[in-house]
Amino acid sequence: MAKENKNCNLKEYSFATEEIPRLSINNPETDKRIADGLPVVITDSGLVQSALHWDLDYLQENIGDGKFTVYKSNNKRFQYFDDKKVDSCKDFQKPMEHMDLTFSEFVSKLKTAKAGKDRVYLQQALNEGVGKRIVTDFLGFNWSWVTEQQKKNKFGALTSNLLLIGMEGNVTPAHYDEQENFFAQIRGYKRFIMFHPDQFKCMYPYPTYHPCDRQSQVDFDNPDFKRFPKFKDAKGYETVVGPGDVLFLPMYWWHHVESVPEQGHTISVTFWYKAGPIGNINYPLSPQQKVSMMRNLEKMIHQALNNADEVPEFMQNMVLGRYTDPPS
Ligand code: SIN
Ligand code: FE
Repeated sequence: MAKENKNCNLKEYSFATEEIPRLSINNPETDKRIADGLPVVITDSGLVQSALHWDLDYLQENIGDGKFTVYKSNNKRFQYFDDKKVDSCKDFQKPMEHMDLTFSEFVSKLKTAKAGKDRVYLQQALNEGVGKRIVTDFLGFNWSWVTEQQKKNKFGALTSNLLLIGMEGNVTPAHYDEQENFFAQIRGYKRFIMFHPDQFKCMYPYPTYHPCDRQSQVDFDNPDFKRFPKFKDAKGYETVVGPGDVLFLPMYWWHHVESVPEQGHTISVTFWYKAGPIGNINYPLSPQQKVSMMRNLEKMIHQALNNADEVPEFMQNMVLGRYTDPPS
């Protein structure tokens, strides 16, 4: 469904990508990929079938008069940042503005945004505040399938269903999440570019204490290969999801997300699950386990030093000339 609408408007990047498979819910390979922690687009899960009629008018009428989290950006990038880490990071410029708007205020901003300027992106967890019809649609999600997946794969608790409404062309820059995600597309088309957790070294994440923790420092539109030389070796996967598609987005997989230009706004809902319990440790450790370990060590060092400025020299002293290649 999604495929024929793609390609024409999609930007080319410096790295090569392979297609993520699009499979039926009945194909045994689908369950195998989910169990193996590999991305897959499930084309016929019916996960959000009951919401495929959602559009801006319907939502405006039924979603309730509460306030919604909306981000505003003066360019197409909507780079997430952690507000709690802003104060300890001097010179940090917030990449986007957080606003609390009613749904109608959001819709009017979405309709009046000029090309490339004052873009908006609604990102709000679906909660009790929503109207009756939305509750009915929500209860009609294919909970039996997704809960069976949660159980079979020993995922932890469902943490949230985030409603995302983006303008065409909006970009969520590359990052990884520490939760499993079934990403359900309801309206419009989203392109996902993904990288395996073993590509960590190519992606150059910000330090863990930085507000942009878990995000790549590399600007895909204009990669600085001097600072980030290994980004040249990055090998990605990609897909375009359309209405009814569900992408399994495994924990620690890097993802860069674009609402496909010239295809209208996008509506999506995430199903985020906590990581399951850590079972027996088997060696060699998986790339995911190594990323988690690196994060914990990095956080410990930062906490112990109690000063972000001391972290780089401390880390270098630990490895330079001992664990690094000799200079050639
Ligand atoms: C997006 O759809 O723009 C971002 C979703 C995510 O990062 O999980
Ligand atoms: Fe994400």
